[in-house]
Amino acid sequence: MKVQVKKGKIEQVKDQAIILSHFEEQKKLTGRVKAIDDRLSGMISHLLKTKDFVGRLNQTAIIYPQGKLPTPRIILVGLGKREEFDVPGQADVCLDKLRQAFGAACRRAKELRVKSFSTMVFPADLKGIDPGKSSQAMVEGMLLSDFQMDQYKTIKQDQSLEGFTIMEEDTEKIKAIEKGAILGEVFAQATNFARDLANHPGNILTPTRLSLEAKKLAQENNLRCKILSLPEIKRLKMNSFLAVASGSKQPPKLIILEYRPTTPRSKRKKYDTLVLVGKGITFDAGGLSLKPTDLMLEMKGDMTGGAVVMSAIAASAKLKLPLNLIGIIPAAENLPSGSALKIGDIITSHSKKTIEILNTDAEGRLILADAISYAKVFKPDAILDIATLTSAIKIALGTICAGVFGNHEKLKTKMIQAGQKTGERIWELPLWEDYQELIKSDLADIKNVGGKPAGAIIAARFLQNFVGDYPWVHVDIAGVDFLEKERPYIPKGATGFGARLLLQFLRDWDEV
Ligand code: BES
Ligand code: ZN
Ligand code: ZN
Repeated sequence: MKVQVKKGKIEQVKDQAIILSHFEEQKKLTGRVKAIDDRLSGMISHLLKTKDFVGRLNQTAIIYPQGKLPTPRIILVGLGKREEFDVPGQADVCLDKLRQAFGAACRRAKELRVKSFSTMVFPADLKGIDPGKSSQAMVEGMLLSDFQMDQYKTIKQDQSLEGFTIMEEDTEKIKAIEKGAILGEVFAQATNFARDLANHPGNILTPTRLSLEAKKLAQENNLRCKILSLPEIKRLKMNSFLAVASGSKQPPKLIILEYRPTTPRSKRKKYDTLVLVGKGITFDAGGLSLKPTDLMLEMKGDMTGGAVVMSAIAASAKLKLPLNLIGIIPAAENLPSGSALKIGDIITSHSKKTIEILNTDAEGRLILADAISYAKVFKPDAILDIATLTSAIKIALGTICAGVFGNHEKLKTKMIQAGQKTGERIWELPLWEDYQELIKSDLADIKNVGGKPAGAIIAARFLQNFVGDYPWVHVDIAGVDFLEKERPYIPKGATGFGARLLLQFLRDWDEV
């Protein structure tokens, strides 16, 4: 999809539609909207008087200029109350409103089979929100809501957009708007890439296929990519990861993606190195602790953590971030079979710690334990992991935000801030020593489950045992990775939650 920024007045474009926004109950029209209303002999004012459209957040309405403008239709979209945009310190909330409103407007354009449209950076006259950030949020909203997955349909609904243009008259603002638009594209593409992977069914997106996707991504973005297969994983003694994979005929893959900045930094100061670990279970049936059928569909997306790690690293390369990044994605299927991991089995993990398995459906922590332990060979400045780890996090926080845990205050704060900036919000839960008591095993060093209460914390606490003293932060996205019902810029199905969060975190990185 083509995104352009052009100099000029929006009312002069001949596109199939133009999108204009409006604050709720704003009495007087201003700027370009006023100019357009005058040309339309008051059609917009008239619509507002009827109260059929008041400008509630994400509300849309169509106006037909009937030849009074070169465009055949105007899509009006509501931004909600203007006062809420003027609250100091709420810029991130406002930017998410822009993301939503332009997501909703873009969806309306697609319903009308519009192929290309023009819009402008709104609101033009707000203090505290710069045009670059507005442009990024708008572009993100539109590209994110444009995502569709129709490759498995033999008859396609022709709703695909060809592109859109942001019009701006002020030459001084154009540069910032262009920069914002490019960032918006990179951020949205990262999310859409992860959504695409997570929507693929398990029979297509196997661990091998996921590793091939990583290779392709690496080629396109100049990343190094190593795929370790069964013999190499065995040589590394990643027995906890192997135990999970043992129930499936599909061989496991350990995907390692590396991005290094091309310009060497001064000798005295090296680039910081971060390892990003993502859960890559391409289908989680639960193993012998089999899940009920209705909970299984979502489990084709149990590799969302891995997918968002892949896309955040590729996007970091696109933005040439000054950081060394290593992505580690253990990819496997969790299936029941005669060779599957059993209840009561004891495994010696990569870290040499022994684990007693009391539930084979708690497999995410098993593969992450080995990946986190292996991450230390890179001597990173920090380890981040992201995973669809526990249904308990969904019970605690719903589908509105993800859970964050960690052993390092600054890292956690930075991650929470990245969540506010991107609209991918996260909420902290505790990891006190007391929880360790619950995963003490009678026979081994540790057991992989610790009862129903505090399930998300127990899983995080389990992981902490493999982290040691490294600064570490863990994000549990099991509540937010998949939606039953669409939101303004999130279609139904895989959300790709975490790609923009990680990318923002990496952009804002300034040593721990
Ligand atoms: N992949 C699931 C977690 C999950 C649940 C992701 C819902 C997305 C939506 C994970 O492997 C799992 O099955 N966890 C168990 C752990 C339990 C057995 C301790 C769970 O949360 O039920
Ligand atoms: Zn599971
Ligand atoms: Zn799982």
